[in-house]
Amino acid sequence: MNADVANYAQECAAQGLRGDYSRCRQDFTVDQDYDAYTADDHRVWRLLVDRQSAQTHRFAHKSYLAGQASVQIGSRIPEFENVGSALSKLTGWSIVPVPGLIPSKPFFEHLAARRFPVTNWLRKMDEIDYVVEPDLFHDFFGHVPILSQPAFADFMQLYGERALEAIELGGDEMITRLYWYTAEYGLIMDDGGLKAFGAGLMSSGSELPYAMSPKAKTMLLDISFLMRTGYEIDKFQRVYFVMPSFEALLEAFQAIDLPDMIARYSNDLPIDPKSL
Ligand SMILES: [Fe+2]
Repeated sequence: MNADVANYAQECAAQGLRGDYSRCRQDFTVDQDYDAYTADDHRVWRLLVDRQSAQTHRFAHKSYLAGQASVQIGSRIPEFENVGSALSKLTGWSIVPVPGLIPSKPFFEHLAARRFPVTNWLRKMDEIDYVVEPDLFHDFFGHVPILSQPAFADFMQLYGERALEAIELGGDEMITRLYWYTAEYGLIMDDGGLKAFGAGLMSSGSELPYAMSPKAKTMLLDISFLMRTGYEIDKFQRVYFVMPSFEALLEAFQAIDLPDMIARYSNDLPIDPKSL
């Protein structure tokens, strides 16, 4: 095993994370090992998809729903290779199996190369409502369909490239907030109304309806402000940022002077989202 992988595997084991990192390649990918999924695993997948689809059909942006059809989300756990070739025809993205969370540098390198890392294991029936680590359901059902939207697909590749630059400049937290408030918890304008597309929302039966309710606080996208706004990982978001469109998100990200922004703000305390 490569030394970086071996160290990371040890850290994950010490933290009680459940992925098996022993077969990781240098880039932290593994085989999906499709035949190892049991009938129970497929049953859990089907239950999660059936339950969550009732929410996404109501609240998700139309491009996410079109993406669900393109990547053939159905009653069995998807085979990443087959789905990847369908996705690749649309936007050039593919899916790579990983054992769970991976370090930020290889994660960003995958994004920069239009490869989305998806965890190869699924939660068990007794964790159906909540699982601590992101699993196959969160990664696939949440993140993959929207990668079929061309401007968002370009945004995610650019994100990978610029995140690598940001960590060199000490802007880890600022660049992570951008991912959090867009890829995980982003909302978007649609025909004068509001829809959701972030994976944290797509894969959550409770936060998605909350984010779309009048109780949720929303703000129109301002990348500089967003990247200075803190977040809490174990609560519903205090604020959700609304993209005018996927094209507007991409253009706004292309337009920022990232080194300048990091130099100005990376040592500041984050804006408290409770204060908004
Ligand atoms: Fe995620």
